[in-house]
Amino acid sequence: MFNSKISGLGMYVPENVVTNHDLSKIMDTSNEWIVERTGIKERRHIKKGDGNSTMMMGVKAAKIAIERAGISKKDIDLILFSTLSPDYYFPGSGVLVQDKLEIPTCPAMDIRNQCSGFIYAVATADQFIKSGMYKNILVIGSENHSGGLDFSTRGRAVTVIFGDGAGAAVISREENKKKGILSSHLHSEGKFAKELSLIGPSTNRWVPEIIDANNPEDTSYYPFMNGQLVFKNAVVRFSEVILEGLNHNGLDPKDIDLLIPHQANLRISQFVQKRFGLSDNQVLNNIQKYGNTTAGSIPIALTEAWEQGKIKSGNVIVLAAFGSGFTWGSTIIKW
Ligand code: ACO
Repeated sequence: MFNSKISGLGMYVPENVVTNHDLSKIMDTSNEWIVERTGIKERRHIKKGDGNSTMMMGVKAAKIAIERAGISKKDIDLILFSTLSPDYYFPGSGVLVQDKLEIPTCPAMDIRNQCSGFIYAVATADQFIKSGMYKNILVIGSENHSGGLDFSTRGRAVTVIFGDGAGAAVISREENKKKGILSSHLHSEGKFAKELSLIGPSTNRWVPEIIDANNPEDTSYYPFMNGQLVFKNAVVRFSEVILEGLNHNGLDPKDIDLLIPHQANLRISQFVQKRFGLSDNQVLNNIQKYGNTTAGSIPIALTEAWEQGKIKSGNVIVLAAFGSGFTWGSTIIKW
């Protein structure tokens, strides 16, 4: 039996910065409203013709992570790609990454767990490494939200929150059982599936049906979010699953060197910070710059933290997410 560790991290966000002021020119919103409710000041959006897509951003982040892991792309045994905005309905973006990286053949799997996608992917990678089956797994979280949002005033409550970007991690075998990924804790509660969802087009309601209905009121092909219900569940589940991970490892909130919550909303992160009595230095927030990049948010934040020297050997790092499904989870790491 082996342990697993994060051996390399990378991120990529499109160059195109979209500020709250930019959004207020195309919909009825304001910088004040967005900052007060979400903490977001700006986000990145793919610009038509800039060559980016969910897969391409993932590849750019992955190349950096692979280099930093000190391995060759030929050493990748498995690709796990988490996203809610894949390039195609099928196949998944994982096989597109395998092709783009020119890895002759390797298994590739997409993880469809939205904001919790990266946590689910890391947990999956961890198990494949601990079982001894694989040595190096490339985990990517990437989202192209801007390609599918409603930029009219009708969609403002959702659209102002989300941004595009990708993060990647190489998860590798670690011989020291006291270091690396200590445990993962995963949950879902499908009764809330529609409360944060995009339900059409789908096999229940395919494109011709939507077109035939010719109903301008039909917003089923845009994301729907019951914001207040999401908020209430998020603060409870974030807290529960962080505590579950700490208890499992005999740790206390004061042992946390850095908590990296999924960047859902600054208010949610602040609530969790207060709940555990953590200082500003113990919690990483970068939603102000990137908005909510869903599956991309934790690996982007993790990469920035590592690049800024905020993660040191021996640190206890806690990753936690909550999102559509509802799904939620945490990962406890001894770096
Ligand atoms: N700009 C200006 N006004 C707006 C906007 C906007 N972008 N969006 C909504 N409003 C208006 C509404 O129309 C409403 O107006 P009314 O009172 O005249 O009807 C008013 O603001 C209040 O709307 P609410 O939806 O009740 O606003 P709320 O205080 O709930 O804030 C928000 C909305 C920020 C989405 C909040 O519910 C929230 O943070 N929810 C958590 C959801 C979340 O963070 N999701 C992230 C993605 S999911 C995830 O990653 C976990």
